[in-house]
Amino acid sequence: MDAKESPRIVLCVGGGIAAYKSIEVLRRLVDSGYHVVPVLSAAARRFVGELTFSALGSEPAKIDLFDDTDPIPHTHLGRSADLVVVAPATADLISKIAHGSADDLVSATLLATRAPIVVAPAMHDEMWSNPAVRRNISMLRNDGIFVVDPSEGRLAGGDHGNGRMAEPWVIASYARSILSPRRVDLRSRRILVTAGGTREAIDPVRFVGNSSSGKQGFALASVAAAWGAEVELVSTVDGLAGFPGISVTKVVSASEMHEATLDLVSEMDIVLMAAAVADFRPSQSATEKFKREGRSEWHVDLVANDDILADLVRRRRDGSVVVGFAAETSDLVEHAQEKLQRKQLDMIVANDVSVEGAGFDGDTNVVVIVTADGSRADLPKLEKSTVAEYVLEKAYSLLPSR
Ligand code: PMT
Repeated sequence: MDAKESPRIVLCVGGGIAAYKSIEVLRRLVDSGYHVVPVLSAAARRFVGELTFSALGSEPAKIDLFDDTDPIPHTHLGRSADLVVVAPATADLISKIAHGSADDLVSATLLATRAPIVVAPAMHDEMWSNPAVRRNISMLRNDGIFVVDPSEGRLAGGDHGNGRMAEPWVIASYARSILSPRRVDLRSRRILVTAGGTREAIDPVRFVGNSSSGKQGFALASVAAAWGAEVELVSTVDGLAGFPGISVTKVVSASEMHEATLDLVSEMDIVLMAAAVADFRPSQSATEKFKREGRSEWHVDLVANDDILADLVRRRRDGSVVVGFAAETSDLVEHAQEKLQRKQLDMIVANDVSVEGAGFDGDTNVVVIVTADGSRADLPKLEKSTVAEYVLEKAYSLLPSR
């Protein structure tokens, strides 16, 4: 990212023990190329030093409404921001945002901005579940503020419960997705994503599989969640457990993925089938490990798996959008179009997995998005998360308007 054109993020740090984790949030955002201005509340400075934030930020940390050389720092900070991230957001700070208080630099900046705001709460679970905090959180959501829900885990004072601030990589991932120029409003939308390669057992230690890492599916799920969707992720690979807004179902084989997705499809607005499903499985799976001794050959008979997508299309909800992926090694668009029609999809995302930077395992992909109504978008090599943004933007455009 060109430094001059870098989006500006104001990182507001509230006064809680999780303030130490916002140092990592700052580092990740700066490393991603954003211009990040840290703003610390007085309470935050009791937990962490402003020098650390000044050293890692794109500008020295701001701390006071009145002591700054700028007579109106809050309006300048608020106006110039492309995004404001509040991490950690204490119960008190959440209450101030909900009620429009502006008695210090953090709260005044939040009131003075028109940029999107991402709030990452952190507090003890008794406070998080308190009706007053629940009310304030709903007010924030109704005002269009993005809330990165806390997770369950270790809290201050050795306690355990729900209220632990989301991990820095999760907050940074939200920030990136919310800054995307392709962002669409997925609040109250339910999205099913599949990820990873299925494993079809030959015996207890061997399987027929492929090298899908799940990264493309994870990118779709995390961007969709940051854009407000309720995401069901059916995956063969571990990942995104605890990511707010995503419920994960772990599966192994195509038949398990088939069952898990069929259970969900009738409630979904969008289905994104990024998993690499094995077309064939061994006709029998041995219960004991197959022994090599005395054999020079071994033949494994394969039978076809059910076509999961075809069944999802049959059970889909009216007005939903079903998207397949096509992994090809030649005649990319022709083969993808054939799959789009045969499986009666609304859209297909074709990737030539033999091309450098595309397909399995890497962090990038090169795709062509083809829709049933004849549109076609050829994208250059992009991060899988950026591909996910394009796919979600297009799928959203195919939903009937509400
Ligand atoms: O996970 P990564 O390492 O990030 O890699 C990403 C990816 C390369 C796996 C992804 O971009 C991709 O191409 N996924 C689809 C792989 C695939 O199975 O393609 P296909 O052309 O064989 O199948 C077409 C579509 O039918 C796919 O949406 C597939 O999920 C679905 N299918 C396939 C077989 C089957 N029995 N049931 C299905 O539903």
